Amino acid sequence: TMVCVCVHVYMWVCVCLFAFTIFLHSIVLVENIPADMLFSDDSAFHLPLSTGLNSLLDKARVAVEIVSPVWFLSPSDYGRALLSRLQGLKDKGIQLKISTGDFDSAELKTLADNHGAEVHKVNMTALTGGFLESSFWVVDRKHFYIGSASMDWRSLTTRKELGVVVYDCKPLALDLHKVFSLYWGLQHKTFIPTFWSKRLFPFFSKGKPGSLLVNQTKVETYISSSPDVFTTKDRSSDLEAISAVIQQARHFIYISIIDYLPVDSFASVPRYWSRIDGLLREALILRNVHVRLLISCWEETHPLTFNFIWSLKSLCMEQANCSLEAKFFNAQRDSSLSGMNHNRFMVTDKAVYIGNLDWVGKEFTYNAGAGLVISHPANVTERNSTVVEQLQAVFKRDWFSRYANTIQTNKIPVCSKKLTSLFLLNSNAHNVYTNERG
Ligand SMILES: *[C@@H]1O[C@H](CO)[C@@H](O)[C@H](O)[C@H]1NC(C)=O
Ligand SMILES: *[C@@H]1O[C@H](CO)[C@@H](O)[C@H](O)[C@H]1NC(C)=O
Ligand SMILES: *[C@@H]1O[C@H](CO)[C@@H](O)[C@H](O)[C@H]1NC(C)=O
Ligand SMILES: *[C@@H]1O[C@H](CO)[C@@H](O)[C@H](O)[C@H]1NC(C)=O
Ligand SMILES: *[C@@H]1O[C@H](CO)[C@@H](O)[C@H](O)[C@H]1NC(C)=O
Repeated sequence: TMVCVCVHVYMWVCVCLFAFTIFLHSIVLVENIPADMLFSDDSAFHLPLSTGLNSLLDKARVAVEIVSPVWFLSPSDYGRALLSRLQGLKDKGIQLKISTGDFDSAELKTLADNHGAEVHKVNMTALTGGFLESSFWVVDRKHFYIGSASMDWRSLTTRKELGVVVYDCKPLALDLHKVFSLYWGLQHKTFIPTFWSKRLFPFFSKGKPGSLLVNQTKVETYISSSPDVFTTKDRSSDLEAISAVIQQARHFIYISIIDYLPVDSFASVPRYWSRIDGLLREALILRNVHVRLLISCWEETHPLTFNFIWSLKSLCMEQANCSLEAKFFNAQRDSSLSGMNHNRFMVTDKAVYIGNLDWVGKEFTYNAGAGLVISHPANVTERNSTVVEQLQAVFKRDWFSRYANTIQTNKIPVCSKKLTSLFLLNSNAHNVYTNERG
């Protein structure tokens, strides 16, 4: 951006300066920590999610684009306040555009009927047989939010959520906007187009990441998406992004995820799904990368989860410098999802990946989601506190908290009182809850 200052002294004299907007890119971690969840006083805490989302609305001038698997904000105070700000956008001359797979939300109907929101519905059942799990905001194609939280009242109150808000970052916001545009164009469609418009192709990908200065630190970054059938030319899929982040790790990989299950139980015949599990095995045994898995223990945790984790653990038996540690995070006191760790991220010594999907076979094949990768360039050693380091600290805070319990070998923890027989592999039980949980 060119900024010019002109003065009249006998004649007009102008001085023009380049305002390097590139230096303004900034990123902030946003979290929702349930009020009754206690961490030690010296732990790292970040901007509350509701503050982050409101700051995006403060910046909005032209258009707010939102995609969320669930729209049910009103049961909480923060949710109602957010909803009322969204309802007020029209009067300020700001467009509100929403892509959703939720055909029944009364809140969306009110937003569309009474508050001028444009809502495009995507019938994922017809398109892939999965769900639209994507959860992100794009504001003025310049600022964005992406993370685990959706437009669900629990995301702003009782569930532990993590995401990032990125300000003044046109190149990356535009790439995320292109994912939004793809969903936008799928309204009323019952089949997936055989080719996508060129304007949906991203600028950045795994092979060609954006080299940006974010918070005065040089990072390499791109947006990924799922499923493959929604992944346009030049766009990296979430699985490619996750694979690259795992493969680039040299010292450690920390994963915080709701469900980890290398099985595709959705296929007509259940299959072992090795995409991520195989890469973790390779990192553990062939590269001696230390792996920590923090998963949620909740009512839908599949019992086989633990068998697969023990199997990873036993891979390291009698192997020097091979280490897999697994803990489950459980702060729930009843069968509600209150206190659940809903985080979906991975952080390594080099990079972060923040996504919308769980690490379960069928998710990446059928569900729509998006992800953000930020990594440190290989040759930069001196740096300030970055989002990678901040996320490492967040992971460690959770890992060493009172809510994280080591997974014992040969003992399946009781995550729910439900009968495990409900979860026979060839049932689609897992799928039934995907939407409920968002
Ligand atoms: C979505 O598509 C499926 C399959 O084509 C159809 O049965 C269903 O009625 C559609 N849902 C809506 C809400 O239109
Ligand atoms: C294990 O790591 C230590 C310290 O990094 C190193 O000295 C040792 O050679 C490693 N052992 C093996 C078997 O790789
Ligand atoms: C790092 O690598 C990039 C491209 O590979 C190069 O342009 C840059 O000068 C290097 N920086 C340093 C500090 O070596
Ligand atoms: C770290 O931050 C300081 C002050 O913001 C800045 O002057 C310096 O260049 C930064 N260093 C790196 C490596 O980004
Ligand atoms: C980036 O800068 C913003 C604004 O100065 C600050 O709030 C935020 O914590 C910084 N983020 C990181 C990862 O250091």
